[in-house]
Parts: sequence; structure tokens; C-alpha cells
Amino acid sequence: MSEWQRRIEELKREKNAVILAHYYVDGEVQQAADYIGDSFYLSKIATGVSADTIVFCGVSFMGESAKILNPEKTVLMPDETADCPMAHMADIGKIQRLREEYEDLAVVCYINSTAELKCYSDVCVTSSNAMKIVKKLPNKNIFFIPDENLGRYIAGQVPEKNFIFNDGFCHVHAEVSPDQVKAAKESHPAAKFLAHPECREEVLELADFIGSTSEIIEYASACEAEEYIIGTELGVLYELKEKNPDKAFFAAGPVLCCPNMKKISLEKIVHVLETGENELHVSEEVRRRAYAPLERMLELAK
Ligand code: 13P
Ligand code: SF4
Repeated sequence: MSEWQRRIEELKREKNAVILAHYYVDGEVQQAADYIGDSFYLSKIATGVSADTIVFCGVSFMGESAKILNPEKTVLMPDETADCPMAHMADIGKIQRLREEYEDLAVVCYINSTAELKCYSDVCVTSSNAMKIVKKLPNKNIFFIPDENLGRYIAGQVPEKNFIFNDGFCHVHAEVSPDQVKAAKESHPAAKFLAHPECREEVLELADFIGSTSEIIEYASACEAEEYIIGTELGVLYELKEKNPDKAFFAAGPVLCCPNMKKISLEKIVHVLETGENELHVSEEVRRRAYAPLERMLELAK
């Protein structure tokens, strides 16, 4: 155990804190975490922890969701500049215009969104529950924000609904091209290609399996194949290799690295636990409004 890890353990006890981490943060940060998972798992866990303080090793929208679901807890962000650009890629004016145009519109908001966007939405979803939730909605017309790629993927699974897409995207996943995947498949012909639905449609068409980060890890762990091409952020390699030391994993593209997730370090966790800096705050008005779609997600995902 490193000096930083030892110090984190001490501080967690002293401050009655738990560490939640997304699979995209560095392996050593995942190692220090009490709970590691995909966005859905982490939002469920955030509703149940008994500790006074949550240190959220992820990007802003994740910490915000934890705070909205758990207002009485202190939520500390190791790096408050770690933000997901896609979380901002939707326009409230457009939501309002579409609500006037379609009487029965449901605004379905990927959890990778700001608290402000959630305030104008009917239900939140993550990549692991979006299909199930959209199917359960009584509405025919769906405005899916902010990610166009996830929206198009879900629309393909739920043809009975009319989808309106938004032009947001994840710059990490959208960077993967079909040519890169084809080249990886040529180099590793026996490998299965596992992709996150934030990838472009032409890339998803080449996939053997499409799922959230947790689902990709579960699939590779249960499948008998020995080699996998991974079409998501490469932080998942830490857990994939932990669970499957005898299997080989290759990147689908050269730049599958989320620079914001990689801002989180052990040193920054120690710093926020020692000082209480970077506490995340959400105004009561925003919290109340953003809580409704998050709570509906938790309910409909059951
Ligand atoms: P999941 O963890 O839900 O698969 O989401 C991926 C992601 O991009 C989180 O930022
Ligand atoms: Fe946002 Fe993409 Fe990074 Fe996830 S991987 S936090 S969607 S930029």
C-alpha cells in the first residue's frame, strides 16, 4: 500500500467518509475506492451510503447526482474542474419549443447532463437502463438529450416511439472510427468487439456486444473468448484485467482516454479529505427540480 493510500484509509475513518469511483478513473484511484461502478450503480449506491461524506471520483454530473439524491451528505470532488463536456450539450430553449410542439413529449435526459438540464427533463436514464425506461414511458414522442449516439441506439431498440435527437456527443467515444475498429479486428481476428453506446452508429454496427461500462466488464468476464477489442474509455481495463488475468484486451482506437476522468488522483483525494475543499453545492430550488427525474429513473429501472 502506498503512502497516499495509507493516508486515505486514515482520513476515511477520521471523517466517516466513503469513496465512490467510476470505471474511467485511473486504476490506483479505483483501488482506493469503496464502491466502483458505472453511472447507474454509483447513483444507486449514493442513495444508500451511511457515511457522512462521499468523495466522488468522477466528473461533476456524477457528484451532482449524488448530492441531489443525498442532500444531507457532504459531497467532495477531488478535482472540481473535472467536467464532462457532453453534459452541457443541450439547449433549454429547444426543450421548451419542443414541449409546445408535441403535447405528449417526454424529455429523456442521459445522466451525463448538468443539474440544470435535469430540471427541465421528465426522466433520467443511464446507458444500462435507457432502453427499459424508454419502453415503460407512456409517451410516444421522446426528446433524447444530450447524447445523439446513445439516443439513436435506443431508438433502434424501441421502434414504436418517435425520437427527436439532439446533437450532443462524447468526444472520447465519437473519436472511434469504423476504420480503426476494422484494423483492430484484422490484427486480432478472434477478438470480440465490445462497444459503449456513446460510440457512433457505424461503429456500433461492427460490435459483438453493446453495453454500459459494467455490462462490458460483465460480458467479457462471462464470455469464453480469450481476446477482446474494447470500444470504451480505457479505465475499464483495470477491472477487466483484475477479473480476467488470462484474457487479452486491445483498444479500439488510439485516443480512448477521458481527460476529465484522468484528473482525479490519490493526492487530490487526500487534499479534499484533509481540507474539506471542493465541496459540491446545489441550490435547493435546482435540487428539488432535478431530483424528480432522477427519482423516476430509480423507480422505473426497478
Ligand atoms: P456508464 O458508466 O453508464 O457506462 O457511462 C459511461 C460514461 O461515459 C460515464 O461518463
Ligand atoms: Fe463525458 Fe465522455 Fe468523459 Fe464520459 S467519457 S465523462 S461522456 S467526456
